[in-house]
Amino acid sequence: MVKRIGILTSGGDCPGLNPAIKWAVKTALDEELAEARGYDFEVIGIRDGWRGMVKYDPRYPVLPAGERFLDRHFARILTEEEVRTWDRLGGTRLGTSRTNPYDPAHETWQQVVVNYKALQLDALIAIGGDDTLSVTARLCTEEGINIICIPKTIDRDLQGTDYSLGFETAVGVIVEQIDRIRTTAHSHSRTFIIETMGRVTGHLALSGGLAAGADVILIPEAPFSTDHVVELLKAKREAGQRYAIVVVSEGATEAPESESNEAAGRGDQPLPGGIAKKIEKRVERGTGGEVRSVVLSHLQRGGVPCAFDRRVAREFGIAALQLVVEEKFGRMVVLQDGQIDSIDISTRRQDVLEVDVLERYDTKSYNARFSLV
Ligand code: F6P
Repeated sequence: MVKRIGILTSGGDCPGLNPAIKWAVKTALDEELAEARGYDFEVIGIRDGWRGMVKYDPRYPVLPAGERFLDRHFARILTEEEVRTWDRLGGTRLGTSRTNPYDPAHETWQQVVVNYKALQLDALIAIGGDDTLSVTARLCTEEGINIICIPKTIDRDLQGTDYSLGFETAVGVIVEQIDRIRTTAHSHSRTFIIETMGRVTGHLALSGGLAAGADVILIPEAPFSTDHVVELLKAKREAGQRYAIVVVSEGATEAPESESNEAAGRGDQPLPGGIAKKIEKRVERGTGGEVRSVVLSHLQRGGVPCAFDRRVAREFGIAALQLVVEEKFGRMVVLQDGQIDSIDISTRRQDVLEVDVLERYDTKSYNARFSLV
């Protein structure tokens, strides 16, 4: 008997996707495991996330292993040989998209159901963030499709898991870039305002800023006053500090209401971003020193996965395949208290996981909370 598994990556790319694919594929195709199971798996890579599941057209059938995806092809056999080196590659070799089949503007979920059957899939492993989890919850409960999710997002804002792939690599990029900017900041005696990603949460800004030794960190969970930022920077200057580093999360807003206080999000809401530029001149006027802003943008999602992402991706990939074997569908593999586990997607909390301000953030110094342990 041969069972067929599809695998896709959806949403913004990040480091960790390729290693997760590699280990899911390796676990599925390993000969000893197949013998112990008593049946074989065949793994189909779906191109461009949910878009591929919508666009797949049986007139352009599944490509053999090793062939390049052409315009109209959205599915290809994956082999152990092909994925062997994927653990060290950034982005996703399968391609991704932000297609959400339940997007009310052009509902396409029926096509996903049709193509799941056309591809003769027994299960699907979807590596994605919030959107993928809500798509999965509906496809599993309403359509009876067998899906397992692997969590990824550099924002690390998913409920139910302590980790999502990509986060630690992105934090590493933030630290590396700030270390570079620091030299110019010092040479020219300037303040630099570094804008990070993170959407409506400040995990990236806080962890990146903390690890880089930023003087001020501004996060969406704690609306800030630019006047107070200026006071903090002036105090540092008066204490003899030659330059300063401010890290601001793209979703951070000024309190209480100001022109930069926009709702952040996707769909019909504006995307966050631009906050560093918005406050740059006011900080310059307030401090009387030179200020520059830098938006780190997609650098944070680029490059090869760090060691931690490679390790967790491996565990997630193996665990996802194990859930397929056990036929425990509608679940997301998670890291909880240092252990790999899984949770039911349909009962998981839908809201974003915010930074616990009371625990982790000091609203006076605008920095990570510093307390005795
Ligand atoms: O959700 C991950 C994320 O990287 C956010 O931090 C950021 O706001 C967004 O994606 C950017 O998305 P895109 O690459 O589509 O511009």
